[in-house]
Amino acid sequence: MDTHENRPFATGTGYGRQPSTYDRDLVEAGPGTPMGELMRRYWQPVAMSRQVTGAPVEVKVLGEDLIVFRDGNGRPGVLHSRCCHRGTTLYYGRVEDDGIRCCYHGWKFDVEGNCIDMPCEKENGKGIRERVRQPWYEAKERYGMIFAYMGPPERRPALTRWSNLEDVPEGFKLMTVGPAFASGADASLEYIKCNWLQHWENTLDPFHVQVLHATFSHVQFVEEFGIMPDVTWGEDDLGAHYVAHRDLDDGRKVDRVTCIWYPNARSVPSVELKPGPGHNLGWVVPRDDESANSYAVFKVPEDFEMEGAEMIPGKKWSEMTEEEHQRYPGDYEAQVGQGEIALHSEEHLAGSDGAIRLIRAGLRRQIKRVESGEDPAGVFFGEDEALVEVTSGNFFSG
Ligand code: FES
Ligand SMILES: [Fe+2]
Repeated sequence: MDTHENRPFATGTGYGRQPSTYDRDLVEAGPGTPMGELMRRYWQPVAMSRQVTGAPVEVKVLGEDLIVFRDGNGRPGVLHSRCCHRGTTLYYGRVEDDGIRCCYHGWKFDVEGNCIDMPCEKENGKGIRERVRQPWYEAKERYGMIFAYMGPPERRPALTRWSNLEDVPEGFKLMTVGPAFASGADASLEYIKCNWLQHWENTLDPFHVQVLHATFSHVQFVEEFGIMPDVTWGEDDLGAHYVAHRDLDDGRKVDRVTCIWYPNARSVPSVELKPGPGHNLGWVVPRDDESANSYAVFKVPEDFEMEGAEMIPGKKWSEMTEEEHQRYPGDYEAQVGQGEIALHSEEHLAGSDGAIRLIRAGLRRQIKRVESGEDPAGVFFGEDEALVEVTSGNFFSG
């Protein structure tokens, strides 16, 4: 008879486990953290130009609450959102020709945080307004994005250009998507509800494409992804890439090349497996430790419009029932399903996680460089050298 007395002790149960942890150096990006300092050495996208028209836009970037606006002369401004007078948010401020005016007592700040008016003070604050400064960051606009530099001013690099976004030919345009551009979700999402790293490192996870996107749920992109790829990965000074090779049923062969650059950029080729180089560049920017923004810029034909993709026939992601999310999960469910912050102490990385190991090691190397007083990879000071060659794409042969 099977009684509990004569059964062997159970092993591997959840009882008595140590608390789970995550790699704080890679995950936390607030001011003063190792990753936060690394991220602050690069221009980071903080908003899309098309968002910044009349009213100021509220954003959270690397743990800091900011507002982005464009003054009446068209200059982009990025300021801490809390007014340095008595702290109300400049989100309720009014944009004027030469700056933004706080709604509470009317202090006005220009795009560099200088206080240029104090209407409640004698002579509009002449003599005292020069002594206050609203914390600000330098802002630049390119590719339809507003980038801010939030790091030490003396280490400010040139704003990187990306080869595949330069030279937009006649009949083409640059199209920006964000602030929650996530495969498997739709525009209803305000931001990515998990830590930046688990969202970004998915970019270099070629094997989940066969499982999650082509066999487990149903065919989310193209049937060809149902073939398990032969994968190689590699790295250079600036980042890493994988090559996923597939022999297709029709005799053609395809090398799918996806690239990342430290600390948080990426280029994913067409998920419809359209032949040719990748026509986009994206960034995953931490908002705080439990959420991120994701932006991308695409070079597309002039008449192209991004449709809200259907995740299952007839339904967008935001229209799916809970049961449908369970039966047909996509990238978003899998990544947010790792928890607000993936617990690295509980992972068991396998052979197919080679590129994940590689890019985590690469990030740690960049952190060390910053900590030892060097500049990290991909930081260029001359405008001419600040051009990165993008090599992503779906390359067919045979
Ligand atoms: S709180 Fe902004 S002007 Fe007083
Ligand atoms: Fe995916």
